[in-house]
Amino acid sequence: MNRPVIVTVLQCKGGVGKTTVATTLAASAHLAGLRTLLLDLEDPKHRGLSSMWFALRSPESPLRELVTHLAPETWTPTHFASVAAGYDFVVCDAPASLARATQAAAISSDIAIVPMLIGPAEIFALEPVAELIDEANRQRAKTNVPALPWACVLNRVECGTRENQAMAEQLVTRVDLLGTVLGDRIAYRRAIASGESALTYKPRDVAAASEAWALFEAVAGRTSLASRRLRAPAEAKKTPAKRPVRKAA
Ligand SMILES: Nc1ncnc2c1ncn2[C@@H]1O[C@H](COP(=O)(O)OP(=O)(O)O)[C@@H](O)[C@H]1O
Ligand SMILES: [Mg+2]
Repeated sequence: MNRPVIVTVLQCKGGVGKTTVATTLAASAHLAGLRTLLLDLEDPKHRGLSSMWFALRSPESPLRELVTHLAPETWTPTHFASVAAGYDFVVCDAPASLARATQAAAISSDIAIVPMLIGPAEIFALEPVAELIDEANRQRAKTNVPALPWACVLNRVECGTRENQAMAEQLVTRVDLLGTVLGDRIAYRRAIASGESALTYKPRDVAAASEAWALFEAVAGRTSLASRRLRAPAEAKKTPAKRPVRKAA
């Protein structure tokens, strides 16, 4: 059995889109036919949105079999390895406080994805992230695991503004930015509130759905899944699938 790909979505700031990105990645992987697990690293006392996300979903949802678990603060890299076994793709949704479970997830992950908003001060929010990753790398080095790759993804981008474009161009010289962004779209809010993703939420927002899939492809392309041909699900297609035409009686 292949080793699962483990992706941790982390940022020390709240409200930047960690849960949106984590649920988007998990939903896309699930729809692409990968055995997928979403792990919520939020303190169980606070129950993060990821672990409630599945409970909001209707039983008819295409995501009904997407498994979600809480990962308690006490979890070690060994817990992550044993829970991840049997899955192809595991997404860890970290809380804003870079807690112990986040550290353990970073030690076990194949890549960390860091959502960022566009703004002149956003770069400073990356300092604690870099520290956490440095610490994880010290632990990884002890067992000869290579350094954890990490990349930022711009979230809530207001499309078409020149100021945003200029700031994004500056950022790209300072951090590794994924070549895809998530726009500021109501579809992401509505989707998450109903246990869905931009790919499965109806009424469908075609732009959000194709962005969501592009994000997954960009992340998967930086992991061992790059060599695997991932078939885009019907939900990721730019034009919605035609409804079957019912023949007149
Ligand atoms: N791309 C987006 N477009 C519109 N709303 C978004 C987007 N990303 C996140 N949000 C909203 O912003 C809020 C915080 O996002 P969330 O993913 O929960 O952040 P975090 O997990 O980092 O705290 C939520 O209400 C979410 O629906
Ligand atoms: Mg969150």
